[in-house]
Amino acid sequence: MAQRREPFACLACYDATTARWLARAGVHLLLAGDSAAQVVLGLERTIDAPLEFMVQITAAIKRGAPDAVVMADMPFLSYHVSEARAIENAGRFMTEGKADCVKLEADASLAPVVARMTTAGIPVCAHVGFRPQTTGLVGVPTAKGRSADEAKRIVDDAVALERAGAVLLLIEAVPPEVARAVIDATSVPVIGIGAGTDCHGQILVVNDLIGMTDEAPRFAEPVAKVGEEIRRAGAEWVRRVSSGDVGGQAYRMHEGEAAALASEKARNPGAGVNEPPVSR
Ligand code: KIV
Repeated sequence: MAQRREPFACLACYDATTARWLARAGVHLLLAGDSAAQVVLGLERTIDAPLEFMVQITAAIKRGAPDAVVMADMPFLSYHVSEARAIENAGRFMTEGKADCVKLEADASLAPVVARMTTAGIPVCAHVGFRPQTTGLVGVPTAKGRSADEAKRIVDDAVALERAGAVLLLIEAVPPEVARAVIDATSVPVIGIGAGTDCHGQILVVNDLIGMTDEAPRFAEPVAKVGEEIRRAGAEWVRRVSSGDVGGQAYRMHEGEAAALASEKARNPGAGVNEPPVSR
């Protein structure tokens, strides 16, 4: 699609059911994102996403959307300790998680790790620009590449990572000029998030897109109000339960069994003390 200049749609999601619906919608690539730390686990930071959990949700997404391209986000420190550990962990995403490729947040210094993964046959997407796993170092999340020097560093990172073997790039939170410069300097598809419209593909966190995030980032415009729908449905359930109208269809006893139960009760009236709840 990138070669044909057809923009491709990507979303970060976290479970088989959502993946199934997104695949039905025609979304081309699903990312098992480490934003799961906040979105699914309610943790404060991306860096708290556990490796085991990430492998499990990657596999779940692939089960839900077997025909979509599934990219696994390698969590904090799963590719920094040593090259051997990095390959081992990336391999788990490919074999246990059934991922089609792995994503790692990288600058040029990680090129050797990307090269080793590539040698091992693991397709790598290198995530440049703003890298959420470095928030501990840089403080609050903020756009990158606003100065020419910083923009040049991002382009240099992208070029080094492509040379090392990255088959995809993802660029986050940069002015459109910086994404353009990366596209011009490289030859692999570039996925953007908050990086303007020139990128070959675009990605968002699904919860931001469907209106389930209280404070979505400035570049994420919701197209639905699913959070509000969940609130409405939950409130309706509360109302139904309290009025004794739970909906659906009741199970039926086999022919004659209800009468048998009633005569058993008549023979033994003291058994059982529970009264059904009073409907309001
Ligand atoms: O974890 C994530 O959600 C990401 C974004 C780039 C979509 O990495």
